[in-house]
Amino acid sequence: MTAVNAHIKFTIMGTVIISKKVESLIAMPAQTEFVSIITGNIPDEIDRLISEINDIPVKTVIFISHDEYLPLNKYLNIIPYQKIYYQLVIFGTEDDLLGQNLTRLYHISDYKINKIQEYEFIFLTLKSFSLIEEFYDNEALNNKYMSKLLDMHQDQEDLINIGKSLSSEKDPDKLLRLILFLSKKITGADAGSLYLVEDDENNGKKLRFKYSHTFSRDIPLEEFVMDLDKTSIAGYVAVTGEILNIPDAYQISKFSSYSFNSFFDKTHSYICRSMLVVPMKNHLDEIIGVIQLINSKKDKSNKGESENEAFTIKLINKEDFDTYVITFDKKYNNLLQAIAGQAAVSIENNRLINQIQNQFEEFVKASVTAIESRDPATSGHSFRVAEICKYMAHAINDSSNFGKIRFNENNLRELEFAALLHDFGKVYIDLNIFKKAKKLFPEDMENLQMRLDYLYRYVELSYFNKKMELFDTDTDISEKKIRSDTFKNEKNSTLNRIIEIKNKISMLNEPTILDEDPVARLTSIISDIENIECRDLNGNSIDVITDSNKANLTIKRGSLNPEERKEIETHVVHTYKFVSKIPWPSEYKNIPEIALRHHEFLDGSGYPDGLKGMDSISIQSRMMAVADIYDALSAKDRPYKKPVPLNIVLKILTEEADKGRLDKSLVDLFINEKIYEKIDSEAFK
Ligand SMILES: [Fe+2]
Ligand SMILES: [Fe+2]
Repeated sequence: MTAVNAHIKFTIMGTVIISKKVESLIAMPAQTEFVSIITGNIPDEIDRLISEINDIPVKTVIFISHDEYLPLNKYLNIIPYQKIYYQLVIFGTEDDLLGQNLTRLYHISDYKINKIQEYEFIFLTLKSFSLIEEFYDNEALNNKYMSKLLDMHQDQEDLINIGKSLSSEKDPDKLLRLILFLSKKITGADAGSLYLVEDDENNGKKLRFKYSHTFSRDIPLEEFVMDLDKTSIAGYVAVTGEILNIPDAYQISKFSSYSFNSFFDKTHSYICRSMLVVPMKNHLDEIIGVIQLINSKKDKSNKGESENEAFTIKLINKEDFDTYVITFDKKYNNLLQAIAGQAAVSIENNRLINQIQNQFEEFVKASVTAIESRDPATSGHSFRVAEICKYMAHAINDSSNFGKIRFNENNLRELEFAALLHDFGKVYIDLNIFKKAKKLFPEDMENLQMRLDYLYRYVELSYFNKKMELFDTDTDISEKKIRSDTFKNEKNSTLNRIIEIKNKISMLNEPTILDEDPVARLTSIISDIENIECRDLNGNSIDVITDSNKANLTIKRGSLNPEERKEIETHVVHTYKFVSKIPWPSEYKNIPEIALRHHEFLDGSGYPDGLKGMDSISIQSRMMAVADIYDALSAKDRPYKKPVPLNIVLKILTEEADKGRLDKSLVDLFINEKIYEKIDSEAFK
């Protein structure tokens, strides 16, 4: 025994628990310093035996009888896993071994049938310790790999989420903030800045310090432009595309081409220590900017997102910087590079989308301006309608009267485009109809006036001829005088009537207001005129007032006859056809339909389809109907029509709503929120 003892160097310490049942089967060594041996009844005393072990967890070998195996196993299964690292040595007969239901065999170091000697006891104890150690090491390794795997999985998830958030952010400023926020969050950085490469006026490149955030300091942001060269840290990365992971900015070698500018630190009592600076490369591998992160902080909480060290640990004084700031972990080089790549693509996409949108918007506005310039009377109308609609949409967003209806950025732009283009179809309509201020076109009126002048002269000439004929006869001179006077009176009366008819026609040519009856007035004029003879040079009778004149002069409302009215109404269909040809992105897919319906009324009296009811006409079209009528009535730039005073316009809108033609809730919103005050009509001229 001593010989064995002498050969074994006991470096492993642990505990041996020996069941009373098997105590007599073990020849105990004289020296047992390498283990502490406890004896007791198993399983009854196992609690006490384990509680006697001072350092838990501890390596423990338990010598038991075969019949103690199951109860002990049951007990060991329920105590916390880490509390005890154990191996078993079981004593029993051969029959016992065969009849025994042994599980978790890896916990059994040996099964003994006979009494064991000291050397066997020592050997089995040491073997058990070794097995425990291996088990323990494997477990530690497993845990290490598992935590690394979880870490990588978390990074991967973060990257996916970052990708999702970045690709869904449309606002360029918000996007930059988001990029920096996420970069800081994932690396636990205290501060960070974003730089963007931009063209300068000399076809060169500059680096713009675009956005920065320091968790530990409240510092106002000021953009500035710097040279794109290797002298600054960000410039170096932007030029070379290298990633810089700097442990201490103040320890940068003086042989390095870039140097650290400590101006910020001095101004804000800050210490930029560790830095991670990565280039943002687009899909063409061009560097479009740089992400610069400063001062990685120790993760002291490890409690997940809400406890992120980037936004919990404040660096106030030098001790804080010394305690918490660490070098950026190397794994962040790749991680941040991946984020920077996604950020670059998002920034580029964002730029392109904005560029396309702006170009398109400018194109639409230029087209609308061109069309409206055909008729100065309506200039600015579409722009004003678009503005009114946008104000109404914002008011709806702020109101509780419209249920769940809310206009997001896309909805607002969709509405704006629809409003800008709503009258685009007018380009297909004869401009004269739009400009027709009176019932007769100017040239028709002129012709009518000329025929009346001709009639006037014809009457004069007729009486002159009559008079000449009279004087050629042998009639008595006094009789001639009497008849001549009669002629003169007749002539003057007829000429006066013609002048009167001219005036009446002028008046009748004005657009009809509701309570007049143009048919009755024209009938009296016509019967008046028909009694006056009028012939051409060939002696044929002339119609001074043509059928076309009659049709127009009897227009019952406004200045347009039914055919002209019909033609004007087709503008909405032309608008629809034109606007439908534009390949709108899906978020603007309703534009053609919204524009098509801007003259529909809720009571079915509108056009082109006489749709009826709230469900058939979208809220956007109902809003546009209100805006369109308001602007048509109140427009100040119509040469032939004075603007209707505001109180009357609002009264008309209210009446239209009461008649069930306009959406009452929208008219109320328009009036109560004083949308009309928000429109600067002059701005759209
Ligand atoms: Fe219209
Ligand atoms: Fe319009």
